[in-house]
Order: sequence, then structure tokens, then C-alpha cells
Amino acid sequence: MGVVMGELRGTHVPVLLERCLELLDPALRLPGAVHVDFTLGLGGHAEAVLERYPDVVLIGLDRDTEALTHSRHRLARFGERAQLVHAVYDELPRVLDELDLAEFHSGLFDLGVSSLQLDEADRGFAYAQDAPLDMRMDQTSGFTAEQVVNEYEPGALVRILRQYGEEKFAQRIVSSIVRERQRGRITSTARLSELVKESIPAAARRTGGNPAKRTFQALRIEVNGELATLEAAVPAALDALAPKGRLVVMSYQSLEDRIVKRALAARSRSTGPVDLPVELPGTGPTLRLLTRGSEPPSEQEVAANPRAASVKLRAVERLDHQATPGAARERPRMTTTHGGQGRLRPGEREEGEGKA
Ligand SMILES: C[S@@+](CC[C@H](N)C(=O)[O-])C[C@H]1O[C@@H](n2cnc3c(N)ncnc32)[C@H](O)[C@@H]1O
Repeated sequence: MGVVMGELRGTHVPVLLERCLELLDPALRLPGAVHVDFTLGLGGHAEAVLERYPDVVLIGLDRDTEALTHSRHRLARFGERAQLVHAVYDELPRVLDELDLAEFHSGLFDLGVSSLQLDEADRGFAYAQDAPLDMRMDQTSGFTAEQVVNEYEPGALVRILRQYGEEKFAQRIVSSIVRERQRGRITSTARLSELVKESIPAAARRTGGNPAKRTFQALRIEVNGELATLEAAVPAALDALAPKGRLVVMSYQSLEDRIVKRALAARSRSTGPVDLPVELPGTGPTLRLLTRGSEPPSEQEVAANPRAASVKLRAVERLDHQATPGAARERPRMTTTHGGQGRLRPGEREEGEGKA
């Protein structure tokens, strides 16, 4: 099934659009600002940036060719200002290189699945619709959920369901999958959903929504290598973020958010010796946290846009050390601050550590 141009336009509300723009605004106003949308999707956030900041150039990345086709159509009126590239988001250094750019000023990760991927039944992401078990975000390469379900060792499947789906009935579900695949290959989302439902205790079936949700999330993460890619992508993005540049990341589940939190926290505190009153060159924080922990959506936002319900937003600004090159700077007195300009002392918890 292909994308019918324009059909999805307006049916998708970009998550926390106004909050994202408010946070990115100072960076979008920098001279010659380049904005990178790492997860272009249907181009909702990107379109708003291009409309409201007429001097900004957009680089839009997506690994999904259907999303790119749709966004190309939607953003065509911006001409050369919209550079859309088929890429996995950890490939930013290559993309910048090819566009002859050394850095970018404003960036957005809106992680997870797009409404296009969920709505197009044949992509196999939705447990509520019957479709081939695919789940690849990039339909041009990689292995499918069908291969994972039918060909992985049972032990590996249990680990995936536990780690990526936080599924406590992983063992029971995998036993059913193994029994079923001895009879024949499991090829459809509906069959897999049924198997999951049959495997879990009746009491658990009555609570907590569709029981297949966690298994589908786990398979999607495995098929797309989502966590490893994100782990590489955030540091790569921060390396290329210009001084005074800003980055916003929206995650929709705790595994992603943990990766983001750690990557941002690592650069928002000193790495120098704890007892020195001054910062040694190269050991100071390079980021300022703009959000306290992860920001949840407002009730209003969730009412207007149910997809926002689980969002966790984090934002940072790249510090500008150009003003005092090489000089030892006095350390902030606070050990940890809202602004993140401190360092953790042994035994202190990372900002937001322990939160879902
Ligand atoms: C939630 S949607 C983005 C929606 C977008 N902000 C909008 O306003 O339409 C996430 C998009 O990120 C893409 N994506 C997910 N992981 C990716 C990765 N590792 N590299 C590039 N794109 C990725 C998906 O294909 C999907 O289109």
C-alpha cells in the first residue's frame, strides 16, 4: 500500500509543537540557523519550523521511505530550504558532510512510530490490525519481525520480550510461540496477538490494555535496532551542535528516555577532579539542561492529542566556551543545579534517576 499524497495531512497533530518551538526559538534565531529534524515523519514539526522561521534551512532525516515521500510533497513549497535525506539518525555526521555543513543549530528527535506507520496496516506495527509481521521502519533493508519470531532461539526471544517490552510473562509467551512455530510459520500480526493473549493468565488479560502491546514494542525495538541507534545518535548530534545551539528530544518509553537522560547528563557536568575549585580546560560541562528532569505533557495536550500521553521531553543548550578559550573557569559552587552546571558527588543520584 503506498501513500496517497495529502491524505494524512492534518490528521496528525505534532506532539508538544508549541513547547518544542518555545525551547528551540533562541537557536532558530541564530544567524544562518540550520535545523535538523532527526525524525521527520509526516513533517508536522518541520513544517511549523519552516513556516515560522523564514531564514532557517531544514535537514529532515527519516529511515522510512514512505514518510519521506509524504514529507517531500508536504514541504515542496519551501524548495531548497528543505533538504530531506533517507538516513538513520545516527548517520548525521555523514549527512552534514555531504551537505558541506560542519554543525547545526537546532535539532529535534520525536522518537517512536509515526501515525503513518501505525495507520498503514501492511507495515505490521499495529497489534489491533491484521497484517504481515514486518515492523521495519526502513522497508528497503534489514530483517522483519516474522524472522525474529520464527527464527530466533527461544532464549533470545525471552530476553528481547523482557528487556525491550518489560514483559513479565515473556517465558510463557515464548513457549507458545515455539509450540506454534513447530506447526507452521507465524506470519501475521493477528496470529501473534492471539498467541500472546492465550499465553498470559486470565486475570492479567482483564487489566492493562491489549496484552500484545509489550510484545509488539519489544519486536519493533529489536527489528529496528532502536536502542543501539539512539545510543549512538544522541552523542553524534551533540558533537555537531553549534555553540548556543539547542536540542529537544521526545521519548515515549522509559528505555529510550533513560538513554537520552544519560547522554545529556554526561555532558552537563564536569569531568574534572572533584576537589579542584577551578575547571580544567576540556573538563567543564558543554551542555546546559533546559528542562528539569523530563517534562510530561499537560492534561490539555493529552486531551487534544492522545499520542502525547506517554511523552517525556528533555532539552539542552550547547554552552558557548568561545568567549574564554583555554582559560580555567571557576567552578559553580552548587554540586547539582537545575541548570545542570554542576557535577555529581559520589553517592548522589543523577538528575531524574529512578523516575520512569
Ligand atoms: C513519531 S514520528 C515523527 C513525527 C514528526 N515529528 C511529525 O511531526 O510528523 C517518528 C519518525 O521517526 C522515524 N525514525 C524512527 N527511528 C529512526 C531512526 N533511527 N532514524 C531515522 N528515522 C527514524 C520513523 O520512521 C518515523 O517516521
